[in-house]
Amino acid sequence: MNIAEAKSKVVEKGFLDIELDVQMDLFAEIERLKKEKNAIVLAHYYVDGDIQDVADFLGDSLGLAQKAQSTNADMIVFAGVHFMAETAKILNPTKKVVLPDLKAGCSLADSAPAGLFKAFKEKHPDHLVISYINCTSDIKALSDIICTSSNAEAILNSLPKEQKIIFAPDKNLGGYLNKKTGRDMLLWSGACMVHQIFSLEKITKLKVRHPNAKVIAHPECEEAVLRIADFVGSTTQLLKYAVTDKTEEFIVATETGILHQMQKDAPYKTFIPAPPNNGCACNDCPYMKLNSIEKLYLCMEYETPEILMDEELRVAAKKPIDRMLEISRAAGLLG
Ligand code: 13P
Ligand code: SF4
Repeated sequence: MNIAEAKSKVVEKGFLDIELDVQMDLFAEIERLKKEKNAIVLAHYYVDGDIQDVADFLGDSLGLAQKAQSTNADMIVFAGVHFMAETAKILNPTKKVVLPDLKAGCSLADSAPAGLFKAFKEKHPDHLVISYINCTSDIKALSDIICTSSNAEAILNSLPKEQKIIFAPDKNLGGYLNKKTGRDMLLWSGACMVHQIFSLEKITKLKVRHPNAKVIAHPECEEAVLRIADFVGSTTQLLKYAVTDKTEEFIVATETGILHQMQKDAPYKTFIPAPPNNGCACNDCPYMKLNSIEKLYLCMEYETPEILMDEELRVAAKKPIDRMLEISRAAGLLG
């Protein structure tokens, strides 16, 4: 397919479908493009290891949002999923934001359609709306405060105990927070397809086989898994814990991409991916895995697919993100 044809099909396909010369040194080309275009590559821990290795910044949702806001680069290349790239555009609208594959969505974001959520919100006018950052910009615009798994507790602690709250879209994170903070937030019933399917039975068997291993889990996991976890935290918190804790063996209940960085930061430790209940040995996010080094190069070279937003929606979605960043800063959670 030639370039003009590939560009015309980008919305339909999600990415530039251009055959690359197999001899091409994509890593060197990406470095060249970073300099030539004053571009920064931001990556989430769930993308493939080779992409994590070329990233200028690797982080969790909060770290990535903060980096996207503060960068002076002209182009932000987001190796992650759509809501993350969209958050970058919301926070830093004068920059060009490109994503290797527009179809890199999120099942959690899909679980809260804006029309249904608006009707739900209208039934509870006395509730404040806190939404997890894994949601569309329409849901953000309907929210009072955004949170991530790194700062959700600090955000709740900044609010009066008697404040009525709707928490969306993740019922597992919401339930975990209700338990941890003693609140009774009204939960939207969404879930992440990756974290929802860890098998308690298989993790328990793994624990028997590895009696010294600690179980570490992301709060998007189901309650039964969180209950047996030795530590619960965002991807950055899991990484930090796995590297600094003196335990040498960990069963990791989150997307397997994080194991790349854990193994790099603590090569002498053993990290075992927690098995899901679908017959596979480990658990990949199909959306994060749509990112490839070829698509990363192509979106940098041709500056497409690009994230473009309606200005009114962007401004409305920015308000609750700004509130999140303000509270996180006051709580000392920003780097
Ligand atoms: P964090 O990176 O904030 O822990 O979120 C995990 C996740 O599911 C991202 O899609
Ligand atoms: Fe969404 Fe879950 Fe994939 Fe994260 S891991 S992007 S929450 S589907």
